[in-house]
This record gives sequence, C-alpha cells and structure tokens, in this order.
Amino acid sequence: KNYLKEVQEFNPKNPEELENFRIKFLGKKGILNDLFQKFKEVPNDTKKEFGQQINHLKQLVNDKINSLKDHYNFSKQPTSDRLDLTRPGYPFNLGTRHPISVVKNKIISIFKKIGFSVADGPEIEDDWHNFTALNMSEHHPARDMQDTFFIDKNPDLVLRTHTSSVQIRYMEKNEPPIRILSPGRVYRNEDISSRSHCMFHQIEGLYVDTNVSFADLKQTLQFFTSELFGKSEIRMRPSYFPFTEPSAEVDVYWGLETETDYRITKGTGWLEILGCGMIDPNVLKNVNINPEKYSGFAFGMGIERIVMLMYQIGDIRMFTENDIRMLKQFSTEY
Ligand code: PHE
Repeated sequence: KNYLKEVQEFNPKNPEELENFRIKFLGKKGILNDLFQKFKEVPNDTKKEFGQQINHLKQLVNDKINSLKDHYNFSKQPTSDRLDLTRPGYPFNLGTRHPISVVKNKIISIFKKIGFSVADGPEIEDDWHNFTALNMSEHHPARDMQDTFFIDKNPDLVLRTHTSSVQIRYMEKNEPPIRILSPGRVYRNEDISSRSHCMFHQIEGLYVDTNVSFADLKQTLQFFTSELFGKSEIRMRPSYFPFTEPSAEVDVYWGLETETDYRITKGTGWLEILGCGMIDPNVLKNVNINPEKYSGFAFGMGIERIVMLMYQIGDIRMFTENDIRMLKQFSTEY
C-alpha cells in the first residue's frame, strides 16, 4: 500500500532521480524482486490477492517510468530540461556589403570630411535635367539616340545617362554655396561585355561658391585620390564635356613607383578615373545662378571602374551576377 502511494507521488527533478527510482523498484535487489521473493512464503489463501497487488505495483512502476522517460527523451518535445549551455552555437552568417556600396561609402566619407553632403535624384529623368540644362542642345552629338534608353518611346523621358542631372536638380532648388556629392545608378544603351554594362554607378561632385578656381578642383581631387588610394599621383588631361569649360579627365598613376595601398595591377601606368571641369556659365544661367558672381566645379566618376581597379575585378558583369563566392570576400562593415 505504501509503495503504491510512493510510486503515484513520485516526481523526479532530473533524469538521475528517475534512474534511482527505477533501480529501487526494478533492480536486481529492488523492491519488486524482494516482494516476489516474499510471495513464495505467503499462505495460500492470501496468495491470489498478494500476487495481484504485486502485479499492480509492477504495472504502476513501469507506467510511471515510461511516461517520465518520454518527458526526458530529447527527441521528443523540447522542454527547459533540454537546455544545454555547453553545446556549440549555431553558425550565424553575416551578410557582406556589395563592393559597389563599400567603395561608394568610402568615397562619401572622404568628401564628407571636406564639407560635401549627399544629394539624390531620380533615375527616370526628363530631357531638361539630363541634357538640355547641361548645355546639350537638341542636336548635340552626346545625345546620340543609341546611348540613351527612352521610356515608352517618349522623347522627353529617359533613364538618366549620368548623375550630372542631379547637379541641375540641386542648383534649381538651392542657393550657393553648394557642396554636394550624388551617387547613383545610370543607364546607357550599350552592349554588355566584360568592360561595359547598360547599367552602372556614378558619383557626381558639385561645388559652387564665390571665387571657386581650377586650383580648388585639382586640390580637391588630389585630396580625394590620396585618401582613397593612399599616396598617389594624378594628372589632368584636357578634355571636353558640354557642361564644363574648361574640362579635364583625371588619371591616377597605377604603377610600380607609387606607394598606393592598392598597388595591384603592376606597371599599368596612368589610368583614367574621372571627368571634371569648371561649370559652364551657360549651365549656371539655366538654373538661375549668376555666373558673374559665382563659379564652380563638377566631377563625375564611374564607381565600377574604381572598384575593379582596387580589387582586381576583371569583369564588370560580376557586380550583378550575385555569385556568393565573390560577394562574401567583401566587408561586413562600411
Ligand atoms: N557626366 C560625365 C560623364 O558621364 C562626367 C562628368 C561629370 C564630367 C561632371 C564633368 C563634370 O561622362
């Protein structure tokens, strides 16, 4: 009778207590064996009742153990008893920044140091902001139909072909002094190859104030390249853009003699990284800024090209293939 009560009320705190309980009742020298031993000596008239009671107790002990086993069985429902603080953690994979973003953010942080802030503009642009206000009249060759994606055959709506459109948008709404940087996607109707794509990224820079000179432009770009590439040499070559006068293209020396942080493509010499110039007075007039009072410079660079130089990426298509083996090599920060 007492045993029945003990079994019914048994409530172990851990698997060890359950195991001790099992040994106590079912073990070789356990209570049930002991009772079966006694059964032999029980007088015949009570044998039946005694036997039934032992069997009942045995049944009860077995049921109890089976139900509690389930409770401690790890393959079954999770319970707080499963918590094992010594187990190794599950791997937690951090994503990485896309190389375009890594370099874009680096460039932004460099120009932030000298007072540039970030401005944004739409990727679907009208003719005025993408071309006309930038001194590209209707028949200007730079508007070559083949290079531009038009929206719905509407000649007034294009996918912007450069971030220079943001210059116009910003100057229309803001008075000098202006110091902005504008990163974003641009589109050109070009065949896709290892070196060119119909979608890529540019960063535009714009500075308008009183007495801005070409020397300011050169110093700004020199500061920028040495921050981005380490100690580096640049040179400016005369060039032409409809919206700047004079215009220049900037090369950075990518050779053995420079101590750039990214001296990777040894001996490749001078490589073009951006276009720039002093804002054409016509452009300032188009956005109602007085060219007699203000002057400024602008520059634009392709981000893909710079990333390819810095990280030895040989094919521009890799940026949009989303191959995890390439992407995971880049920073989880920045
Ligand atoms: N918009 C020019 C291009 O896409 C780059 C540029 C920007 C040149 C600003 C001069 C000034 O090639």
